[in-house]
Amino acid sequence: MKRTILFLPLLVVPALLSRAEVKKIELPLEPAKFKEGKGAELAQAHCFTCHSVEYIATQPVMPRKFWEATVLKMRDKYAAPLPEDAVQPLIDYLTENYGKK
Ligand code: HEC
Repeated sequence: MKRTILFLPLLVVPALLSRAEVKKIELPLEPAKFKEGKGAELAQAHCFTCHSVEYIATQPVMPRKFWEATVLKMRDKYAAPLPEDAVQPLIDYLTENYGKK
């Protein structure tokens, strides 16, 4: 009996300690979104699939030519599944919102 009482804290203390070690989980901030505007839903649908909006938002302000080349590169080199009728509206949207006209 005496032995049991002596051993009890050995069981209880680690149990309490491990309970105290509550993991804190930090949720990531709301993911960034494409700027609103005509065609934003296309970018949201077709560019978000492989990378975050930062890839686009952190590019220097570039002319239409750059955005055209980028969209075509995504399609031709990286196999982005872009429907033909989304290509021009996407270039328009990117130039309008992330480029210079
Ligand atoms: C099928 C996957 C895929 C899709 C969809 C996609 N991309 Fe990409 N994108 C990539 C890959 C892969 C890279 C290169 C990543 C690296 O170098 O780290 C990249 C890189 C980029 C870059 C960085 C510059 C560069 O040329 O490497 C930009 C800007 C970009 N993408 C824009 C777009 C836009 C705009 C769209 C929507 C029209 C889009 N991406 C859709 C795969 C994709």
